[in-house]
Amino acid sequence: MKYMTRPKLHFTPTKNWMNDPNGFIYYKGEYHLFYQHFPYDTKWGTMHWGHKVSKDLVHWEDKGIALYPSKDFDRNGCFSGSAIEKDGKMYLYYTAIAYDQLNPDNIHVTGNKIIASQALLISEDGIHFDNDQKQMIIPVFQENQIGHPNNTRDPKVWKDKDTYYMVLGSQYEDQTLHEMRGEILIYTSCDGIHWDYQNRLINANFDSNMWECPDLFKIGEQYVLIMSPENTINDGMNYPSHAMIGLVDFDENTCEITMNEEMHFIDYGLDVYAPQTTLDKDHQRVVINWLRMPCPSEDLEWNGVYTFPRVMTIKDHRVYFSVHQEIEKQFSQSVSQFTLTNAIKISVDVKEGSRLNIGGYKIWIDDHKVYTDRQDVFVHEAKLFNNDTKAGTKFLTPPLQDGNHLDIYVDTQVIEIYVNHGEYVLSNVVYGMKEYLEYENIEDLVMFEAK
Ligand code: FRU
Repeated sequence: MKYMTRPKLHFTPTKNWMNDPNGFIYYKGEYHLFYQHFPYDTKWGTMHWGHKVSKDLVHWEDKGIALYPSKDFDRNGCFSGSAIEKDGKMYLYYTAIAYDQLNPDNIHVTGNKIIASQALLISEDGIHFDNDQKQMIIPVFQENQIGHPNNTRDPKVWKDKDTYYMVLGSQYEDQTLHEMRGEILIYTSCDGIHWDYQNRLINANFDSNMWECPDLFKIGEQYVLIMSPENTINDGMNYPSHAMIGLVDFDENTCEITMNEEMHFIDYGLDVYAPQTTLDKDHQRVVINWLRMPCPSEDLEWNGVYTFPRVMTIKDHRVYFSVHQEIEKQFSQSVSQFTLTNAIKISVDVKEGSRLNIGGYKIWIDDHKVYTDRQDVFVHEAKLFNNDTKAGTKFLTPPLQDGNHLDIYVDTQVIEIYVNHGEYVLSNVVYGMKEYLEYENIEDLVMFEAK
């Protein structure tokens, strides 16, 4: 089996399992990034919140575990959530999980159902987290209430004017289809502690039974919705669940969300899941995404990696993504030799028939689309959650409309391709990539190495 070595500039857990980014916030002069973490193994289990802190989004200091099960209501895990600053304190919102039955063979996964409530921990300084002080803020739903008793999770909270808002992922039974469908519940609060249900977003045409990790925010005056619908592709070739993005309207008084357009993939490599956004120190909207790894690192010590933090902007009614300036400025050294010992940026103008082979990872242009193939640099026997969740190997973007430029970041074994300065992004994890670069039908190619 081929494994993955630790990237130089991408966020990874020091040890063991990591999935969704949580509580991403710029707080008192530093970035805090929490993450879904199982501290005992390189696979998913009882969820804790890991915690790292950075001044620049490049160098991260490990602060250990912030949230861990400590109350009856979160005895089996602290699922995903978000952070805000209020009166100088850090408020962490998360989903508290209790299993209705234990699994006799493994107490770290449920024996039957998960029981979900929403909870809050207030930290004085963003460094100390008194797990005795957690409080439940939205109790478990009963059958036939607005939310689902088992599948309601991932509170994302923000403040606008004098109101605190929360979006929550949930599911309901569609009476016509007799099937479960995803929904988003919207709550408001005047103090960030007491919450009232206001409205919900449903869309029965959207093929998904559960919407995870919703995030609703403004770029300028435009509202943008990100969510991670489960089981939205069922082609047997790719992960079934994917992160999607779309422009929406949001009425701040009625809390009505209107979807004006189809949601589309936030990243066309189809490894990305559970993105979370925040505002950086310059008030730019930044998103960070979990890249799913179907097997652990080379030394078997850790599993899970995030994309570069990406700045989101809107141009011609579309969201564009660019590598955050703090990361981008690392690639200052122009080089002529491709290497895997450092992070490399390759910039090229492409045309029909252009091809690149980066150590076994293939990229080509056909019919105005970017195609990639990681078949020769991937693990085929491994599965993300030990079930049938297979990862795909071949990907493509929609037709390019805004030029023919690629910026390809290769960080030991993570590849991120920014097409036309962020018109589309396609990112993949690879295993066993070789140290060579070949290309054809390309005139201009320049490379930069990270400092
Ligand atoms: C998304 C997710 C969230 C949940 C968390 C549990 O990957 O399933 O909905 O809170 O992971 O680790």
